[in-house]
Formats: sequence, structure tokens, C-alpha cells
Amino acid sequence: MGCYLVTGIAGFIGAAVAEALLERGHEVTGVDNLSTGRRERAPARALLFQADCQDGRLYEGILPRRPYDAILHIAGQSSGEISFDDPVYDLRTNTESTLRLLRFALDVGCRRFLYASSMSVYGTPETPLVTEDAPARPRSFYGVGKLASEHYLRLYEEYGVRSTALRLFNVYGEGQNMDNMRQGMVSIYLAMMARDGRILVRGSPDRFRDFVHIRDVTDAFLACLDHPESAGRVVNIGGSGRVFVRELVDKLRALSPAPVEVEYAQGTPGDVFGIAADRSLAAACLGYAPRVTLDQGLARMYAWHTAGPGKP
Ligand SMILES: NC(=O)c1ccc[n+]([C@@H]2O[C@H](COP(=O)([O-])OP(=O)(O)OC[C@H]3O[C@@H](n4cnc5c(N)ncnc54)[C@H](O)[C@@H]3O)[C@@H](O)[C@H]2O)c1
Repeated sequence: MGCYLVTGIAGFIGAAVAEALLERGHEVTGVDNLSTGRRERAPARALLFQADCQDGRLYEGILPRRPYDAILHIAGQSSGEISFDDPVYDLRTNTESTLRLLRFALDVGCRRFLYASSMSVYGTPETPLVTEDAPARPRSFYGVGKLASEHYLRLYEEYGVRSTALRLFNVYGEGQNMDNMRQGMVSIYLAMMARDGRILVRGSPDRFRDFVHIRDVTDAFLACLDHPESAGRVVNIGGSGRVFVRELVDKLRALSPAPVEVEYAQGTPGDVFGIAADRSLAAACLGYAPRVTLDQGLARMYAWHTAGPGKP
């Protein structure tokens, strides 16, 4: 049995990853400031500390100082659009937090660090499918912060903290925050559709994305722990491959028993036109292949949302 520290444990991805670790019989300690997360989302069997990961006091006697088998840093402000509201907050919450956690890892003798990075580091890609060695020119403060975090990981590699940054593409699925109307294309459209019978698309329907179900993201984090050869790398985690926004909208409309109107408006700051993951490296160093198709994932999420609030 191992012991793991998971940040963002009361959020969409952190809760799912923590649950998967617990299912494997591990012990999990969690940190969350409950800014977007909810206490009841965090697995009850995990020890939860309510705190900001960028707050130095957390590491001076509040968090248990154990040689964790790994730290999984998943906490963060997760919206490119929101990062334009207060870039300094974004830097602190997403990047200073990484630096402090890396230092903590070193201090307590933890030698494995996984990080929830993002496709946002690429900015506007030069090719429809991006590989990890494509130029990283983020177009949002959020993307800059994620890229800086990746560089901190690289520096700490030299001190022996072996890290893997997963560049997650558009994550969706059961358990996603359906009230945050500025993060998550699938969750936003689905929430609008269920609430108003109408989807407002901000930006062109010809844009495209790569949608990855939470189950596959959880598998990818666990695969990092099983594959030490993923240490020292940044790895794309995609799912559906290239899917146009209009295709996503059609798939969602098909799930609704009632008619759904679609309206279009201007795009949001920092949004990129089209991006999808080349998954070759994930396959090679993690044995990763997505298992949930977009149709399956959307159907599951729709069923979860229409059944009412609750854990997935
Ligand atoms: N959802 C996606 O599509 C996606 C894609 C790429 C990367 N990511 C990254 O994955 C991570 C998790 O995203 P999510 O979709 O689960 O979002 P989420 O908002 O559901 O979860 C984030 C959690 O972190 C907590 N948190 C935020 N800042 C914190 C801080 N400074 N200290 C402690 N707790 C803090 C929140 O309260 C929340 O519980 C984020 O770092 C995000 O940038 C998400």
C-alpha cells in the first residue's frame, strides 16, 4: 500500500484520481481550498486539508511530512478565459503552488511528482495534431502559468524529483462542475441545454477540439505511477481525436428528448481555433489508449447530469 498526496481533491479531476488510488488500496491525503471544489466531492476515505497550495504555512507543520510515494498536483484555476480576469491570482494559484509543492516533495523525500498541465501551453498549433515537441506559445495567462510549472518540474528533476506533466486536452465527464459557465466546453453546453433548451456557442462551429473522458484521464495518471519511464517527460493526453464544435453540438442535441436551439456569439479571449493531441508518446511511455468513445462518454455524462446532483 502506498501513500499519496493529491491536490485539488475536491474538484472534478482530483476527486476522480484520488478515488482510483483509494480503490487500489492506497492511502490518500488531499489538499483543496474549495474555491471551485466542494467538500462532499472529495472521497470520504481521504484526509482533507482545506488550504491554498501557494500558502507557505501549509508546508510548515500543517501537511503531514511523509515520504509520499508521489505527489499528484491537480489543484488549480482551470480556465484560460478566467485567467484574464486576474493574471496575478492565476500565477499564484497555478504556478507558485507548483513551485512550493516541488520544494515540499524534495524536503520530505518524495521522489515522484505528477502534474495536471494543459494543451493550453501550445497556443495556436502549426499542425492539426500536436506532438509534445511542438512550439509552446501559450495565448492565455493560464497557459503561460502551466508552461512555467512544467519548467519548474524540469528544474527539480535535477534534484531527483522525477516528474511527469500530463498535457490534458478537453476533459469532460461525470462529476464535472456544471455551474462554472466559463470552463469546460462539454459541461457548459450540456448545462445550457438541460437548463434552457438552448446552446450558446461562443466562437466558430468550425473550431475543433480533442475531448477526453475523465475515466481515461484517471487511467493516465495511474499509468504514470506504473511506468517509471514516463518520468522526466511531458505527455499529451487526448481522447476523441479531432472533433469539430458543430459535431459536438449535434451529438449533445441528439441526447436531448426536447428540441435544442443553437446560437452563435463572439469567441472568448485566448481561445485557440483548433487543437488535437498526437498520442504516440502517451502510447509509448504509458501504454495509454483512450477507452471511452465520445458517444459513450457524452451518454454517461448526460445520464449522470439528468439524474440530479451527486457523486458520479
Ligand atoms: N478540465 C479540463 O479540461 C482540464 C484540462 C487541462 C488541464 N486541467 C487542469 O486539471 C486541474 C484540475 O481541473 P478540474 O477540471 O478538475 O477543475 P476543478 O475546478 O473541478 O478542480 C480544481 C480543484 O482545485 C482546487 N483549487 C484551485 N486552486 C487551488 C489552490 N491554489 N490550492 C488548493 N486548491 C485549489 C479547487 O477548489 C478545485 O477543487 C487544473 O489544474 C486544471 O488546470 C483541466
